[in-house]
Amino acid sequence: MKIAIGCDHGGLKLKNKIRQYLLGKNIEVQDFGAFSEVSVDYPEYCIKVSKAVLEKECELGILCCGTGIGMSIAANKFNGIRAAVVSDTFSARATKEHNNTNILCLGERVIGEGLALDIVDTWINAEFLGGRHSNRLAMVENIERGEV
Ligand code: RB5
Repeated sequence: MKIAIGCDHGGLKLKNKIRQYLLGKNIEVQDFGAFSEVSVDYPEYCIKVSKAVLEKECELGILCCGTGIGMSIAANKFNGIRAAVVSDTFSARATKEHNNTNILCLGERVIGEGLALDIVDTWINAEFLGGRHSNRLAMVENIERGEV
């Protein structure tokens, strides 16, 4: 599995911790930056990671900013991206099992590093359950296509 990661200045430390964590688990990582704490605009990094996922260069993406919220708002503008801000492990599992999220958004200013890494682990290892959840995601795709 290859995971795309990205951040703005508000999520830099957490993104770097996640990169080390994933590499330690022998998971391939493509780091799209940012690479310093200089103030940058989160949509720029969100676009890079979202495109890597949509173009199947990477299977999943993880985006970190101060809250995770800006990243999730921007990522969900792409058709085919299902991004969620997660701050607990229950939601981390559910958002893969029920919502088949392909991008996880985390807030460095909201959660601690230990919890963030547990969330990452839980999310990566959870699997979409399909069935009734597929029907609901098909309805979400109708919204994306403006067919409502
Ligand atoms: C940057 O200060 C902050 O606004 C950003 O990291 C993020 O929290 C936006 O949603």
